[in-house]
Amino acid sequence: MLVRLLYASRAAAAVDADTLSAILKKSRANNAASGVTGLLCFSSGIFLQVLEGGRLPVNKLYHRIASDPRHTDVALLSYSEITERSFAGWSMGQVNLARLNPALLLKYSESATLDPYAMSGPVSMALLDELAATASVVGCT
Ligand SMILES: Cc1cc2nc3c(=O)[nH]c(=O)nc-3n(C[C@H](O)[C@H](O)[C@H](O)COP(=O)(O)O)c2cc1C
Repeated sequence: MLVRLLYASRAAAAVDADTLSAILKKSRANNAASGVTGLLCFSSGIFLQVLEGGRLPVNKLYHRIASDPRHTDVALLSYSEITERSFAGWSMGQVNLARLNPALLLKYSESATLDPYAMSGPVSMALLDELAATASVVGCT
């Protein structure tokens, strides 16, 4: 029984490279233990994260993440039952925005700035799918 959950949030304070890498390090350790996989994207003060795995582990993790004071305005964009994972290779992959072609953002949104609050859930999901397929993701499992 697998589910996929997508949410967006706004960083509560400036997120530097150390904060981001601490979040990713903790995520990779916890997620590997609970069988959760996914991607985390951070740009212009906004997080976009997809989590996939068992229904209970994903729900528990989402509630834990949603109460994390390092971000706010946590908005559920999409939740679905799935037959297979799209991001099985990453316990928590990081989307490398330095490698992101602005044309890819323009393909899916009104401007070349990442703003999932202005995008539908399926469109944000399509963007993440394409980022994963175009090797814009860094980080090991
Ligand atoms: C944007 C964001 C994404 C996060 N993603 C994850 C995640 O995928 N997995 C995880 O275990 N914790 C994640 N966290 C951290 C959790 O909110 C929480 O601090 C952590 O899971 C606590 O783990 P612990 O109980 O082992 O100390 C994230 C936090 C933020 C702000």
